[in-house]
Amino acid sequence: RSILYYDEVESTNTVAHSLVLEGAAEGTLVIAEHQTSGRGRMGRKWYSPKGKGLWMSLVLKPRIPLQLAPQLTLLVAVALCRSIRKLTAIDAGIKWPNDLLVDGKKISGILLESSADEEKLQHVIAGVGISVNLDPDDFPEEIKDVATSLSIQAGSKIDRAELLCQFLLELEGLYELYQEQGFAPIKMLWEALNVSIGCTVRQQSNKGLIEGIAEGIDDHGALVVRLADGTLTKWYSSNVEF
Ligand code: BTN
Repeated sequence: RSILYYDEVESTNTVAHSLVLEGAAEGTLVIAEHQTSGRGRMGRKWYSPKGKGLWMSLVLKPRIPLQLAPQLTLLVAVALCRSIRKLTAIDAGIKWPNDLLVDGKKISGILLESSADEEKLQHVIAGVGISVNLDPDDFPEEIKDVATSLSIQAGSKIDRAELLCQFLLELEGLYELYQEQGFAPIKMLWEALNVSIGCTVRQQSNKGLIEGIAEGIDDHGALVVRLADGTLTKWYSSNVEF
C-alpha cells in the first residue's frame, strides 16, 4: 500500500478524497507535516502546526452497510489508544465517539468521512489528528484549557515515526479482527479503554437540551443513554456533550 507524505496540505482528508476519486486503493495513507485548513467534527477547525503532530488520513473500503460505519470510528479510537499506551506511559482514554483524552483534556481526534451508494458503503476516509509534540504555548487561546499533547503529558518529546508505525500495526490487526469476527471483539476492547460510561451526557434536540447518563454502546457503536425518567435511548449523533 502507498504512503503519501506532504509538507503542507489544506487537509489530509481532502487529499485522500481526491485520491479515492482517482482510484486509490484501500490502505492508502496521506500524511502531512502541516495542514492549513485541518477539519474537526461539526465544522470545527483542527489546529495542525508544522512538524508537531501526526495529521493523517487513511483510505478504507470495508464491505459493510452504511449504518455500521460508526463502528469504524470506535475501531480507530481503540487502535490509537492502544498505540499511545504501548509507546508511552500515558493513560489515554476514549471519549465516545472519537476523542482521546488524557486527564480530561483532548489529545487526539478522529474524523470519519464516508461516501455511500444506496446504503452500501463505498469508501471511508479515516482522518486522525494526534497532538504529539505541541508545547503549552503552541495551542491557541480558545483551546488551551481543553487540549494537551503527548509530550506535555509525558514530559519529553515523542518519536512521531515510532508512534505512526505502532498505530498502523494496531489498526491493521484490529481491522483484520473486525473483518473476520465483526464488531464484538472491538466493542470489548473499546469498553475497557473508554472514559465515557457513567458520565452525564447532553444533547440538543428540537425539544431542548436532553440529559442522561451514558450506560454503554450498542452493537452498532451508538451510545446507550439512560434519561432522567429511567428510559433507555440510543444516541447516534456525535453532537453529544459530556
Ligand atoms: C475532531 O476531533 O473533531 C476530529 C479531528 C480530526 C483531525 C484530523 S487531522 C488529519 C485529518 N485531516 C483533517 O482535516 N482532519 C483530520
